[in-house]
Amino acid sequence: MKMIIRIFFMILSLVSSISSASVQDFCIADPSGPQSPSGYSCKNPDQVTADDFAFSGLAKSGNTSNMIKAAVATGFAPAFAGVNGLGVSVARLDLAEGGVVPIHIHSGASEVLIVIEGTIRAGIISSANKVYLKTLQKGEVIVFPQGLLHFALNGGTGPAMAFAAFGSSNPGVQLVPNALFASDLPAELVEATNFLSHEEVKRLKGVLGGTNEPSLSLY
Ligand SMILES: *[C@@H]1O[C@H](CO)[C@@H](O)[C@H](O)[C@H]1NC(C)=O
Repeated sequence: MKMIIRIFFMILSLVSSISSASVQDFCIADPSGPQSPSGYSCKNPDQVTADDFAFSGLAKSGNTSNMIKAAVATGFAPAFAGVNGLGVSVARLDLAEGGVVPIHIHSGASEVLIVIEGTIRAGIISSANKVYLKTLQKGEVIVFPQGLLHFALNGGTGPAMAFAAFGSSNPGVQLVPNALFASDLPAELVEATNFLSHEEVKRLKGVLGGTNEPSLSLY
């Protein structure tokens, strides 16, 4: 009996030493490995350096010389390898005067937006189609709940800048205008499912680069 108890405690201490040795502090993304819903596979911990925990992709202002006069830089996994598996990520938003981030959703995370410079008008549309609008000044913050339609635009004169934080290492971004007018959803279906005229759908597909114009198909 004594022997059995001894063996039992030996096994127990062995198991606990193995489990404490395998406690995983982090999982730096290895984009060459397989990806799962919980994230990317882990880089060999022996090869991890301080650089893997840092990201310089938000350091510079983005180029806002574009149609929406806005630039968004994202620090999601695997570009920001260190956030993989940690349930956090970041982004930077630069808005020239008149700049807009079109209506979009993040299916994977809520977002906190922190205004660093200028004035930003932000809006949320709930699933009950209630609209929440807020004008934010430097230092002010707004939260966009996960999965809800939201947008941001420059609400002042001069440039605006904000940082965003997300509750996922890969929150996903889907812009509604792009889903409708930059995709190859046939124009007649965009019209029928959104109660829009053919002229307007044609114009927006032209602006945003969507394909599948009926005029291109041969009858
Ligand atoms: C910003 O983008 C525009 C349009 O693509 C381009 O012409 C311009 O050279 C870019 N500016 C910089 C500083 O990269």
